[in-house]
Amino acid sequence: MGQFYSFNHRHLLDTASLSLKDITHLLDTAQFHLQFNKQKHKKQEILQGKTIVNLFFEPSTRTLISFELAAKRLGAEVVNVNMNVSSLSKGENFMDMARNLDALAPDFMIVRHPAAGAVKMIAQQVKACVINAGDGAHEHPSQALLDAFILRQKLGDLQGRNIAICGDILHSRVARSNINILTKLGANLRLIAPATLLPNIDFAQNISKYSELSKGIEGVDAIMMLRLQKERMVSAFVPSEGEFFRLYGLTRKKLFMAQGSCVVMHPGPINRGVEIASELFDDHLQHVIFEQVEAGLAMRQAIFETLACATGQQL
Ligand code: NCD
Repeated sequence: MGQFYSFNHRHLLDTASLSLKDITHLLDTAQFHLQFNKQKHKKQEILQGKTIVNLFFEPSTRTLISFELAAKRLGAEVVNVNMNVSSLSKGENFMDMARNLDALAPDFMIVRHPAAGAVKMIAQQVKACVINAGDGAHEHPSQALLDAFILRQKLGDLQGRNIAICGDILHSRVARSNINILTKLGANLRLIAPATLLPNIDFAQNISKYSELSKGIEGVDAIMMLRLQKERMVSAFVPSEGEFFRLYGLTRKKLFMAQGSCVVMHPGPINRGVEIASELFDDHLQHVIFEQVEAGLAMRQAIFETLACATGQQL
């Protein structure tokens, strides 16, 4: 008899604890929402009567709007906490703020915070289902899931595929979450960065480190470029942005070293002329950056639906 699958997580806090079945389930569910979003009538009732609070202690454009739109498309009410006029400026700490908002009985809290581990701390203190929208340099699960979605769409099965991640890997929660998910999906990863921006740890066998972009990119099926996370840097990690671009910035010329059909990705926000050449970004046929944004909406709908189902919240 076939085993019945269920998603056994109350919150989505990290990718490390997701099984291959969890990941595949989320990717398949997002596929449904991506198609549904192409229809004229885009509204669904999966979260009808539910309340979502977006609690972002760090700036965000894509992730915040994506979670908001995903919740609204599924029929929920959404409240965004405006940090500029919130009580943080009156000295309230983030945990007290989260507990107070939880008293309004939201069904989901989407939290972004500059400190690694802060989102998990909130999840332990509130009744709402908590989704991590990025905690310091730790994890950004929804971004890595949407990246895996695009990669699967472009490359098919990721088993044995060569995927490069290039840039500020040390401070990137996107890199950390992608490493977890893509290795679980069987990809070989190449981490490309100056030594100062690579974590000083031994990675698993199917992960290799490169200090030169031109070598690391040779024959890869996909390359994910990352922004220098200056807000997390405690000292100068690169001599200058110009020097970083010369060595690690992606240009048309360097892209010739990869597979002809290499999938070029970036989670945004992009710094033109630092991690990617302006002319390369302006050539929409050369990258899938806007498709990542579109997939992000579908993936966040899939996350809501899956968690609502797992916690018995669905209508
Ligand atoms: C990323 C983040 O916030 O970690 N952006 C995003 O969510 N799309 C990457 C970044 O800020 O560089």
